[in-house]
Amino acid sequence: MKRGKKLYAGKANTLYEVLSDDGSVEEYVLEMESTDRISAGDGERTDVVKGKGYANNLVSTLLFKLFEEAGVPTHFISEGTTPSSKFVKKADMIPLEVIGRNYTAGSFCRRYGVDEGIELDPMLLELTYKCDASHDPLITEHAAVALGIIDGETLENIVDYTYIINDVATDFFDELGLTLIDFKVEFGFDRATGEFMLADEFSQDTCRLHDAEGNSVDKDIFRRGDSNGEVSSTYQKMVDMLEAMNK
Ligand SMILES: Nc1ncnc2c1ncn2[C@@H]1O[C@H](COP(=O)(O)OP(=O)(O)O)[C@@H](O)[C@H]1O
Ligand SMILES: [Mg+2]
Repeated sequence: MKRGKKLYAGKANTLYEVLSDDGSVEEYVLEMESTDRISAGDGERTDVVKGKGYANNLVSTLLFKLFEEAGVPTHFISEGTTPSSKFVKKADMIPLEVIGRNYTAGSFCRRYGVDEGIELDPMLLELTYKCDASHDPLITEHAAVALGIIDGETLENIVDYTYIINDVATDFFDELGLTLIDFKVEFGFDRATGEFMLADEFSQDTCRLHDAEGNSVDKDIFRRGDSNGEVSSTYQKMVDMLEAMNK
């Protein structure tokens, strides 16, 4: 498979068309490139962080393989044409962000006026509705079904698989000495088969990770305004840790 033309450049990832060996367009496959672009505050602040795309693609690829092994269907097909890309099954995305929280942090603390770092056991699941005009509001499970964004069976799948994803990712990062504070995932339906699956990514851009001293090893470093060099080395730290563990 070869890379074709650029289809969509999001805030952090770029999606490409994929061509088969005879040059025809693969209808059901995309190449997803994790880029060095970074943004915060709904895209208000942006920068370029050297090595971020590579680090994110590495983590996401390792995790998606583990999710599959744990029985979660995912969009991952194989490594892509660059060290920071992968081939994925084209999805009709569900316009929900599915958030799993093991400890309070970020917007959750601001919303309810509670301290950071309070354990939430079992993991707390939240949904936000991907809708730029309304700035991705929190949405209840019942509202998501009532509005026809998902049906009841899809809601069940989202909940069941997100708990499995949390277990797998928590163990994976635990081995690196990191605590998974929270994360965001996105699901969709395989354009070719209609199968429900995990799509998008699971990376330092889309989760919070704390080391034993409580330091962030994720995008929070950028959100709080650390220097570009520090942000870059935070993403690099993950690559180093994975290499040290022979992952
Ligand atoms: N398998 C897939 N098929 C189609 N779209 C996908 C797939 N996986 C992820 N996406 C979408 O691709 C985009 C990834 O780009 P990204 O920069 O992360 O966007 P965003 O700015 O919305 O975070 C997202 O809109 C995501 O919903
Ligand atoms: Mg994204």
